[in-house]
Amino acid sequence: MRPDVPEKALELRSLVTAAGTLELSLAEVPVPALGENQVLVRIEAAPLNPSDLMLLAGTDITGATFTGTADRPVVTTTLAEATRQRLAARVGVSLPMGSEGAGTVVATGAGAESLLGRTVALAGATYAQYRVADVSGCLVLPDGVTARQGASAFVNPLTALGMVVTLRREGHAGLVHTAAASNLGQMLVKLCLEDDVPLVSIVRRPEQAELLRSIGAEFVCDSSADTFLDDLVAAITATSATLAFDATGGGELASQVLTAMEVVATTAGAFSAYGSSVHKQVYVYGGLDPSPMVLTRNFGFAWSIGGWLLLPFLASVGAEDLTKMRGRVAAELTTTFASSYSGELSLAGALTADAISAYMRRATGEKHVITPQKEEA
Ligand SMILES: NC(=O)c1ccc[n+]([C@@H]2O[C@H](COP(=O)([O-])OP(=O)(O)OC[C@H]3O[C@@H](n4cnc5c(N)ncnc54)[C@H](OP(=O)(O)O)[C@@H]3O)[C@@H](O)[C@H]2O)c1
Repeated sequence: MRPDVPEKALELRSLVTAAGTLELSLAEVPVPALGENQVLVRIEAAPLNPSDLMLLAGTDITGATFTGTADRPVVTTTLAEATRQRLAARVGVSLPMGSEGAGTVVATGAGAESLLGRTVALAGATYAQYRVADVSGCLVLPDGVTARQGASAFVNPLTALGMVVTLRREGHAGLVHTAAASNLGQMLVKLCLEDDVPLVSIVRRPEQAELLRSIGAEFVCDSSADTFLDDLVAAITATSATLAFDATGGGELASQVLTAMEVVATTAGAFSAYGSSVHKQVYVYGGLDPSPMVLTRNFGFAWSIGGWLLLPFLASVGAEDLTKMRGRVAAELTTTFASSYSGELSLAGALTADAISAYMRRATGEKHVITPQKEEA
């Protein structure tokens, strides 16, 4: 018996059925016993990141049905054929959800006693009231940092740091970032200022440009402005950026960035019919724009577009560097790596039609956080 720890607790599950539907529901599961060097974390906050939303509800919840009860809701959507094929390996496997979160250590296994009562951040299966974690997977938050403040301590902070490491590894002088008013984009502005990395932030509304300027961004280009392409060329000239991280992954933005980089490179160098020899790299690291990517190939031949994901990046970083990165994130969780949330949802509340349509907008300043200890929907 562990005082204050229930025998069973709720977690959010996602199930792909053989009939081609995706079903979201709450499961009541036993709270497991702890092994050596393990802790039991009472999860208090877990963000709904864009990547969680892809797994949770795909890209389209139009036509979803809402059944069950207020405290045990069930959401069912019919998957598009292409999504069914992509998720074939998941058919019949009920998966826990939530890429990251934070909470209090309420019980410890042998060797983990020093963490009892500490607030920690952790990754994976966090849309749950309780979660077992290895000590090595816990980031102990500094005194005074709350679970809500530490809930997004992994995905976005390590990605922002990963972008800067990638820039240095690949020898680029400056960086272009799209959908840049995001939580991650705001972190990147602060990080690049601290680390002296020239950054061009691309947003799609004037108020987003204002927001980024208010936290110190020097080069912000608004894709809704008539002058966007000229502004982009001017900003790339000033920053010498030859690397871009694109969170949209669709439409013309990547092509426009490569074009602007090529204009800058050809203006600076000797003319060649094949374009400049300056290598331009775009990494697509998100899928905010589900439309096809359109490339208008007027940017020579020295370019690449590839994918970028946090986990393979982390696998490429040595243990010592990873420890340093995690330490920096913990120390700067309320400054450089601060996240903001517009609303809190219980596990059941996260499965209502209103909540889903609010967080599926993925709009600036409207990220939600699940607070699994909150009982009411
Ligand atoms: N590859 C990786 O390993 C990795 C790791 C971490 C994060 N990410 C990606 O990083 C991105 C930002 O994450 P976040 O948590 O910081 O997001 P967030 O705070 O929820 O913000 C989302 C932002 O995206 C913008 N947006 C949404 N749809 C858009 C579209 N179609 N075109 C342009 N902008 C759009 C929103 O602006 P509006 O208000 O104008 O809609 C908002 O500023 C996401 O794409 C996420 O998947 C990837």
